[in-house]
Amino acid sequence: MIGFFDSGVGGLSVWRAFQKEAPTIPLLYFADQEFCPYGEKSHDELIERADKIAEFLISKGAKIIVVACNTATAAAIEFLRNKYPIPFVGMEPAIKTAALASTSKAVGVLATEGTFSGRLFNETKEKYAKGVNVIIQAGKGMVDLVENQLIGTSAAHKVLKNLLVEMIAQDVDHIVLGCTHYPFLKNDIQEIVGTEVTLIDPAPAVVRQIKRIIDKENLVFDNNEKYQFYTTNNNVSVFQQQVIQLVPITKNNTFNTCRL
Ligand code: SIN
Repeated sequence: MIGFFDSGVGGLSVWRAFQKEAPTIPLLYFADQEFCPYGEKSHDELIERADKIAEFLISKGAKIIVVACNTATAAAIEFLRNKYPIPFVGMEPAIKTAALASTSKAVGVLATEGTFSGRLFNETKEKYAKGVNVIIQAGKGMVDLVENQLIGTSAAHKVLKNLLVEMIAQDVDHIVLGCTHYPFLKNDIQEIVGTEVTLIDPAPAVVRQIKRIIDKENLVFDNNEKYQFYTTNNNVSVFQQQVIQLVPITKNNTFNTCRL
C-alpha cells in the first residue's frame, strides 16, 4: 500500500494523478484536518505531526509515503527520511519548469509562507530561476476555499483576484501552484489570469517519481486491498463528502476518523 498525507483534502490532487496512472495499487490517504491549515504552523509542530502520521501509515502497511503537502515537505521530509527505513516522496517546487518555459521571464509562485521560507524552495529558485523575475505570493485563504467546498464560487473569485493582482501586473506567463490544494482552484485561477498564462501543477512530476521508486525497489502490492481514507476530524461523513466531490474513487473503500 502507498500512504499519502496532507493537512486536509489538498493532497488528493496528487492522489488523483497517481490513481489515474496506477488504478489497481491500494492507497491510503490521511487528512490531518484537525490541524489544517499547515501553512502557518511552526517547523517543530509540523515535524511532530508528520512523525505521528508516518508512524501510523507504516503501521498500516505503507511501503512508500508521499508527503502530498508542500509545507510539510519543506519542514519534515529530511527528518522522515532520516528516521524511517521506507522511501518518502515529497512535493517539488515546480519553479524550475516554470522558469525554463517562461518567455516573458516573469513567473509567479503561489504557496504558503512555510514553503517560501524552506530551504528547498530557495535553493531551487537560486539554481534554476536566475535572470527570471519570480513573484511569490502566499495563498492566504486558498486552503480554506478548498476545505470549505467553495471552489467555483464568487467568494473564491474575490479571494483569488486579490492574490493574483501583482502577478498579472508583472506579466507572468507561468504560475506554479505550489500547494496541493491549489490545483482544485485551477479553473477559478485561469478565469482570472486568462488562458495565455500556463498554470503548473507539480503532481505529474511527483507521480513519475513514485513510479521510479516502485520500479527501483521492485515493490509489489496486494491489489485486493481497498482504498482507505482517514481524517483526524471527528466528522467523517463531511470528509467522505469532500473526497467524493473532489476525486473519482475507482476501488472499494473505507472512511474513518483517526485521532493522532
Ligand atoms: C496548508 O496550509 O495546510 C497547505 C499546505 C501545503 O500544501 O503547502
